[in-house]
Amino acid sequence: MNKIILTGDRPTGPLHIGHFVGSLKERVRLQDSKEFDEIYIMIADAQALTDNYKDVSKVRNNIIEVALDYMAVGLDPSKSVIFIQSLIPELCELTFYYMNLVTLARLRRNPTVKEEIKLRNFEENIPMGFFTYPISQAADITAFKATTVPVGEDQLPMIEQTREIVDTFNRLYKDTLVLPEAVLPNNKNSLRLPGTDGKAKMGKSLGNGIYLKDSEAVIKDKVMNMYTDPNHLRVEDPGKIAGNVVFTYLDVFATPDHFKKYLPEYKDLAELKAHYEKGGLGDVKIKLFLNDVLQEVLRPIRERREELAKDPDKIYEILKAGSKKAQIKASITLKEVKEAMGINYFN
Ligand code: TRP
Repeated sequence: MNKIILTGDRPTGPLHIGHFVGSLKERVRLQDSKEFDEIYIMIADAQALTDNYKDVSKVRNNIIEVALDYMAVGLDPSKSVIFIQSLIPELCELTFYYMNLVTLARLRRNPTVKEEIKLRNFEENIPMGFFTYPISQAADITAFKATTVPVGEDQLPMIEQTREIVDTFNRLYKDTLVLPEAVLPNNKNSLRLPGTDGKAKMGKSLGNGIYLKDSEAVIKDKVMNMYTDPNHLRVEDPGKIAGNVVFTYLDVFATPDHFKKYLPEYKDLAELKAHYEKGGLGDVKIKLFLNDVLQEVLRPIRERREELAKDPDKIYEILKAGSKKAQIKASITLKEVKEAMGINYFN
């Protein structure tokens, strides 16, 4: 059986370093591993509309932002098919048939949906499009016969839901759909990067993210204002590591090379942490170090992004070509699904 990747993002804003460590880096690694026969990366505009249908221009304008972020981090359209969800009408048809296989009670139990309903105060007034997006996500995954879905941990309930739909479909009709597996990024610290303010989630509306397109000055400003240990007032005071965002980010980004280059007086992160806990190490010093590290990681990405952004027509051409390819693949699956169900009346 072919090894196939499908994954994607909602285009509701440019992508940030949480996306980078939580999924983008892993996608590029998988892409370049050459272990996969096909790779599909979807810009999930239709899904984004399920909670942004009043602000279509936001979704529209962010399609190119996300595409630029993808290519800037190293997703390569000659290796990965990058496409736009709404250009694949087959996904809607598949969703319609899968709706029969899922109950209201089951959707209500989906932890991610549950959390999002609470977050948005929807209660009983939840729009059906939003409520049923896990079913449409199952269509996204199965349309491409994906075996592998690289995602952040918040997406695990979606993959679980998809697997149930696949099982039900295959049992009820005929063995047609492929059972997908989720892959999480392998660095445990990067499962979910907190915001610069210490809040659990990094997000545009919270204003606590560092974006791949941020300038050098903006990054520095965000780092220097980062949440650390509020009780670490004087340099001599002992400081706390847990919940200290600077150390959380250093855990994820700092390498031995960074220490050699920017902070040679410390052997490694363990030594830096020990000094901070003992007292005598100021926040400015650790922030300047983190700034050096982040600038080094983000500079090449930003430079590539600026280069690509000079020719937006070319980016749209890439998306158009990718969507054509993706549509052909999805149409084959839809045909098989209809055959399996016995709604292929004229063959
Ligand atoms: N739900 C994903 C997000 O919020 C986007 C998405 C849509 C997706 N369809 C998908 C991810 C299929 C993986 C597989 O970013």
